[in-house]
Amino acid sequence: MTVTGKAMVAGVVGWPVSHSRSPALHGHWLKRHAIDGAYVPLPVPPEHLEAALRALPALGFRGVNVTVPHKTAALAVCDEVDALAGRIGAVNTIRVADNDRLVGSNTDGFGLTENLRLNSSWKPSDGIAVIIGAGGAARAASVALLDSGVPGLRIVNRTAERATVLAEQLGDNAEAVGWDDCARALAGAALLVNTTSLGMQGQPPLDLPLDALPRDALVNDIVYAPLETPLLAAARAAGNPVVDGLGMLLHQARPGFEAWFGVPPEVDDDLRQAVLAGS
Ligand code: ATR
Repeated sequence: MTVTGKAMVAGVVGWPVSHSRSPALHGHWLKRHAIDGAYVPLPVPPEHLEAALRALPALGFRGVNVTVPHKTAALAVCDEVDALAGRIGAVNTIRVADNDRLVGSNTDGFGLTENLRLNSSWKPSDGIAVIIGAGGAARAASVALLDSGVPGLRIVNRTAERATVLAEQLGDNAEAVGWDDCARALAGAALLVNTTSLGMQGQPPLDLPLDALPRDALVNDIVYAPLETPLLAAARAAGNPVVDGLGMLLHQARPGFEAWFGVPPEVDDDLRQAVLAGS
C-alpha cells in the first residue's frame, strides 16, 4: 500500500532491529483496517537513543515501540511514564502526546497475561507461579502476574543474587529459589514461565527436570522462535498444558497500535500466520 504524505507513522527502535517481527505485525493490522499509516524499523545505536526519541515529535511520529537493548534507557528519556512501566523499570511503548511530550508505558506483562488468559484455562487464582530468569522480561512478567492476582511467585535464576534482588523488590509474595533447588520451586506450582533466552534458535535449551511440577500446571515460554521450544516439548510430553510465546508478542502490540492509529486491533490466526511468515 502506498504511504501518503498524510500517513500516521510509528515504528520500532532497537539495535539491531532487523530481526523484529513488529513491522510485519503492525503492517498486517494497518492493511486489514485500511489505515493510511506506516510502521517502520528504526535501527538506533545506544549513543543516539536520546536524540532519536527526542526527534520523534518533529518527524511527525505518533510513537514507537522500544526493543532490545533500549527498554531501560528509554524510560529515562520519556517525559512521563505510567505507574506500571515505573515499577517494571522499562518502557516498550512510547506515545507522542500533547505538547510533544513522550509518554512511556510497558505492555510486555499485559501481553503475557492476555496470552495465558485467552489460550488456556489458567486463572491467576490457580496458585503459585514459577518464573525462570531475573532480567527485564522476568520483571515485566512478575509484576503483571502479581497484579493479576497470582498468590505467590518463585523466582529461579542462574545468578542467585539477581533472583534475590528481584524477589525483594517485588515484596512479600515473591521468593527467590536456587537453581539447584528447582524441584522445590516447581512443587505445587500452577504456572511455569521461562523468561530467559534459553531454548531460542541458536541458544542452548532450558534443561529443567519437570517431575516435581503438577501435571495440570500450565507451562509457557516467552521464546517464540521456535514456537515449540525444548521446554514446551518436554512439558507437552509430560502431559502438561502449554502455551507458546508468540501470543505474548501479538498481545503486547495491541495498546500501542490503538494509541497511535486509533483502532483496537484483534489477535487471530491470520495475524499469527502473517507474523510467522514475516509479511
Ligand atoms: P531480558 O531483559 O531479555 O530478560 P537480561 O536482563 O539480559 O535480558 O536477562 C537474561 C536472563 O536470562 C537472565 O535471567 C539470565 O540469567 P543471569 O542473571 O544468570 O545472567 C538468563 N540467562 C541467559 N543465558 C542463560 C544461560 N545460558 N543459562 C541460564 N540463564 C541464562
